[in-house]
Amino acid sequence: MARANGTLFTLLGIVTCFILIGGIHGANILCLFTSISPSHLVIQMSMARILYDRGHNVTVVTTLKSPIPIDHTNINHIQVEISEEDKQMLSSLFGDMAKTDNSNVVLSMFRSFKKVSFIFNKVAGTLTDPLVRNLYENKDNNFDLVIVGYFMNSSPMAIAHKLKVPLIVQVCNPPSDITAGRMLGNPKELSYVSAQYASANEGEQTFGKRFANIFTSLGVNGFMFFVDKTNEQNYYKLVGDDASFPDYADLNKNISLVFFASHAPSEGPIRPNVPGVIEVGGIQVKDQPDPLPQNIKEFIGNATNGAILLSLGSNIKGSHIKADTMQIMFKVLSKLKQRIIWKWEDLDNTPGKSDNILYSKWVPQDDVLAHPNIKLFITHAGKGSITEAQYHGKPMLALPVFGDQPANAAVMVSQHFGLSLSLLTLEEQQFYDSLIEVLENPKYTQKVTKFSSLYRDRPLTARESVIYWTEYVIRHHGAKHLQSPVVHMNFIAANNLDIYALILVVLLISFYTTKISIIWLYGKCKTKTSKSAQQKVKVKRN
Ligand SMILES: *[C@@H]1O[C@H](CO)[C@@H](O)[C@H](O)[C@H]1NC(C)=O
Ligand SMILES: *[C@@H]1O[C@H](CO)[C@@H](O)[C@H](O)[C@H]1NC(C)=O
Repeated sequence: MARANGTLFTLLGIVTCFILIGGIHGANILCLFTSISPSHLVIQMSMARILYDRGHNVTVVTTLKSPIPIDHTNINHIQVEISEEDKQMLSSLFGDMAKTDNSNVVLSMFRSFKKVSFIFNKVAGTLTDPLVRNLYENKDNNFDLVIVGYFMNSSPMAIAHKLKVPLIVQVCNPPSDITAGRMLGNPKELSYVSAQYASANEGEQTFGKRFANIFTSLGVNGFMFFVDKTNEQNYYKLVGDDASFPDYADLNKNISLVFFASHAPSEGPIRPNVPGVIEVGGIQVKDQPDPLPQNIKEFIGNATNGAILLSLGSNIKGSHIKADTMQIMFKVLSKLKQRIIWKWEDLDNTPGKSDNILYSKWVPQDDVLAHPNIKLFITHAGKGSITEAQYHGKPMLALPVFGDQPANAAVMVSQHFGLSLSLLTLEEQQFYDSLIEVLENPKYTQKVTKFSSLYRDRPLTARESVIYWTEYVIRHHGAKHLQSPVVHMNFIAANNLDIYALILVVLLISFYTTKISIIWLYGKCKTKTSKSAQQKVKVKRN
């Protein structure tokens, strides 16, 4: 009997332990992943999947179809679809960008401002969609946490304020000026941290580099100023004069922490971050790759000379790229001894047929890159794609198009993980030579393999970090204690400009009073000496 009791107590103890340790299992989490970019959604849906695998009740709002399969019995998915008209607009925007030189981020941002701002309006629009409205107005929804996927518009954050629950933000780039800086008061450190989206702080921080960086920062922040003005107008148009919605300017001020799709200890830049910066780069990479579709599996599996994956991302379609460029690419690729998987959406209209090329509408990129026969990845240099190649240790040939891609490609090249060419000016010989160089010179594979082991070596994996920090915020009902005071300070106070101004005034006053006194004293002495000189003259005459 006593023994039975003992066992019972032990059992009870174990159960209590489980309840205490995992006390926030089964929290109710609302994710607002309204970005119009499928590559963002890949990262975001991976996070949602991790959270529901952990046992939380996850509700996800998206504007796009999920690019990764989701199990609807576990996840409550609400899609606020964008109209056909909007989809066309979006496609033409990406098409235009593919035809212009976007190597200067700031210029490229301003050039596309009008069209891009339409995207932000769409994101804001979901705020008052009846399906979403029900989520925050229906009192039966007891959410514990809101996670917002941020893309240049803070409007969705209003929902956390409406629900009065903690807010976590998710960003698909490294902590930059316009995200970590504006949301968490992260230091800018412009003398050695690039103000562009992605950049390791390699090389010497020369005068020219620092000079340019200050202007890049001004440009990027200027751009965000205009974007936020547009966002703000749209926000008030949507919420009207409903006082239960916070001011647009206050939306960024109650964020517990931000998950960034980066990993500074391996990728750089080395810089100070506030504790609310949580880097979970590689979150979309699965610990174990899923099995490949049969045709792809056979095609790569039988590639005795190795295989190449070619994907220009989910935004750029074959039709956006000049026909000549496509022909050049086809001509070169069909001559190679390697097999090529080419992500191509229109299978009736391919650049050409060749035994060594397999066109596929959909490619499970992460799983394909994990395959040992893949020797090279030809990519548009989206952050997600570069991350996956780095994780799996595959060298790259980048053909960047717009947004953060040119900067990502430049960093990748500086790390010697591959080469980069402009898609706008692609030439046959140059494309061929670059391919051969990356395929045959072992230095690229060696460098990226070495990086891969650094990238994977972390105290908590990306998956564990997401779980730990999400539950941390739920456990403590927010993370106000992590917040930097800078978040609530204005520009002048945050930069001590008032104090410098005061010091300057004091210095100027003391300089002028000293100057005046010296002139006065000098004047006095002069009159005195000239008087005594006159006296001497008089004495002499006498
Ligand atoms: C999960 O959350 C949704 C939205 O709040 C709610 O309708 C549903 O009942 C919840 N499910 C469980 C098992 O708590
Ligand atoms: C700020 O967040 C906390 C939870 O972290 C929440 O309780 C509070 O209501 C929020 N404040 C506003 C103004 O939304």
